[in-house]
Parts: sequence; structure tokens; C-alpha cells
Amino acid sequence: MKKVWQILLVGLLALGLALTASGCGGEKKSAQGTGEKKPIVVKFSHVVAESTPKGQAALKFKELLESKSNGQFKVEVYPSSQLYGDKEELEALRANNVQLIAPSATKLVGFNPAFQLVDMPFLFASDQAAYKFYDGEYGQKLLRSLESQGMLGLAWWPNGSKHFTNSKRPLKRPEDFKGLKFRTQSGGVLDEQFKALGAGSQTIAFGEVYVALQNKTVDGQENTFNNIDTQKYAEVQKYMTVSGHGRIDYVVLTNTTFWNSLTDEQKKLFTECMKEATDYERQLADELNQKSFENLKNSGKLEIYTLTDADRQAFIEAMKPVYDKYTDKIGKEYIEAARNTK
Ligand code: LMR
Repeated sequence: MKKVWQILLVGLLALGLALTASGCGGEKKSAQGTGEKKPIVVKFSHVVAESTPKGQAALKFKELLESKSNGQFKVEVYPSSQLYGDKEELEALRANNVQLIAPSATKLVGFNPAFQLVDMPFLFASDQAAYKFYDGEYGQKLLRSLESQGMLGLAWWPNGSKHFTNSKRPLKRPEDFKGLKFRTQSGGVLDEQFKALGAGSQTIAFGEVYVALQNKTVDGQENTFNNIDTQKYAEVQKYMTVSGHGRIDYVVLTNTTFWNSLTDEQKKLFTECMKEATDYERQLADELNQKSFENLKNSGKLEIYTLTDADRQAFIEAMKPVYDKYTDKIGKEYIEAARNTK
């Protein structure tokens, strides 16, 4: 009998050793058996392609945080609305189902109307002026303005100037917009902008824009060269106007409950990696947009018109009602600070 017990014990020991060596149940073993902690999982959801400035910067952030934390964090990036679309990603972040998103500032209008400042026609003098504004007093104030709603802004990731595309006719002067219908990212300033041009508008989630253009639910849209290129809008649009009339820039947001669960050390590391990813994103934004502009020109699929100074002036005049209606809603001090940043 004693012998049988001895054999059984040896057998069980051998099985245990084999399981450990083969890594079977590895996660549990490393978490409980060796005292190592399970990594903190950070889900990063976004709506654009991986080959965009936002897509690349999200991957850069993953690489940085995972390596610098020695595996303390695991970042899972979900591009192209794989996990959530425009509206859902905001709800998911607030529910802490994802810990990072980077929506275009426009999409935060429901939480703080001042974010719409990126849409004010011809407001920023240059990319550099926009970056400086975002990193300055007002940009930073905006990042902190959503805390009472469970979200904390960690960085501004600019994409760049936006331009019009449509399937009906070349758009050279404000009057050419009459009767057309455009997709917008969200309501407010953008609806007013198209109204000022005599056009209609409809809010459509980014992931559904291609089909809406293809089905002619709308005639056109406005976006950066890189989004127009990576979303293949040239397949369903005929004309592009290089107008640079507004911007598409992102706010990287985290959930405040998640953020407050981190130690000071972890927050510091997170912030450092975010800063590095932000520098990377800003370098890429210009480069990828220029590259995409070349792709669009070379595709031969779009008839491209670039506004002259006189055209631009005509658009500035035509879009004045947007300032009349939205300056106070956004905050005069924001508009002036943005305009005065050089
Ligand atoms: C859009 O909805 O057109 C953009 O905000 C998408 C994006 O994230 O660049």
C-alpha cells in the first residue's frame, strides 16, 4: 500500500513539473505561482486606418509603454472602428470598457462646445500655430475640461487641414456649394458652415462615410488628405478642393477611474510615453498628409482645384455667419487666443 502511495506521489509531482515547463496555464502560474503580477491591460480604440498619423502613434505608444514598463502594461490597439464607432467609443471610454481613445475634437462638442474651435473657418495661421495653441494655456485647459464627465485629456494629436471632396462638380467659389449635401463629423459649427454656403449637412460616423458617399446619401465630405487617401474616397468622389478651411485634430482621452487607479510612478511613465508618442505623431502628420496628397494627385481619379487667394477671401466672407453665431458659444477668449497664436 505504501508503495502505491509513493508511486502516485511521484507521478503527481512529475505531472506538475511537466505542466509548469510546458507553460500550460502560464498566465495563472506566473500571476499566482511566482508572485509576478498580471499586466494592466490598456485598450486603445480608434476609428482610422493603421497607416494614419493617429494609427501609427497609437502603435508607437503601445511599443513605448510595454517596453519601458517591463511588461507592467499591455496595450491592445483596435483601429478602423473594429471595436467601436464614433459615438460608441465615447460611451465605452466613459464606462471604462476602453482606457484610451483619440476622437477628433469636433466629436466632443456634446461635452464642451469649446472643442469646436478646430472647425472655425480659417482660424489658425498654420500647423505650428495650432500646435502652439494646443500646448498653451487654452489647449491645456480644454484637456482638463472633461474630468467631471469621467474623461481626462492626455494629449493633442493634430492631423491637419481639411479639404472638400464631392461627386457633383468642381467647388471653386462659395456659390458652387448651393444645394449640395455634405457629411459632417458632428453638428454645430459644421452644420452652420455648410448652411452659410447654401448646402445641407448630415452627421455620419466615420466608419460609414464611404458607403454614404457611394450610395449618394451625401454628395461630399471634408477631411485631411491622409483620411481621404486611406479611406479611398477617390473611388466614390470626383472632385477635391484644396481649401484648408478647418482642421481635424485629436484629443487623446483616458478614463478618470482608470487613471486614478494608477500609482504616481505608473502615471509618470504613462505621461512620458504619451509625450514621446505625441512628438512622433506630429512629425508624421505633415509627412503622411503630403504623401497622401501626392497619392491622390497621382491616382488620376480626382479633379483637383486649389483655392486662389481671391477664392479664399470669398470663403472667409461667406463663412462669417459661423463666427457671428459661434464665437460666444465657444468662448471669445478661445477664438482670440487661437487667432493670435503665431
Ligand atoms: C472624421 O470623422 O472624419 C475624422 O474625425 C476621423 C478621424 O478620426 O480622423
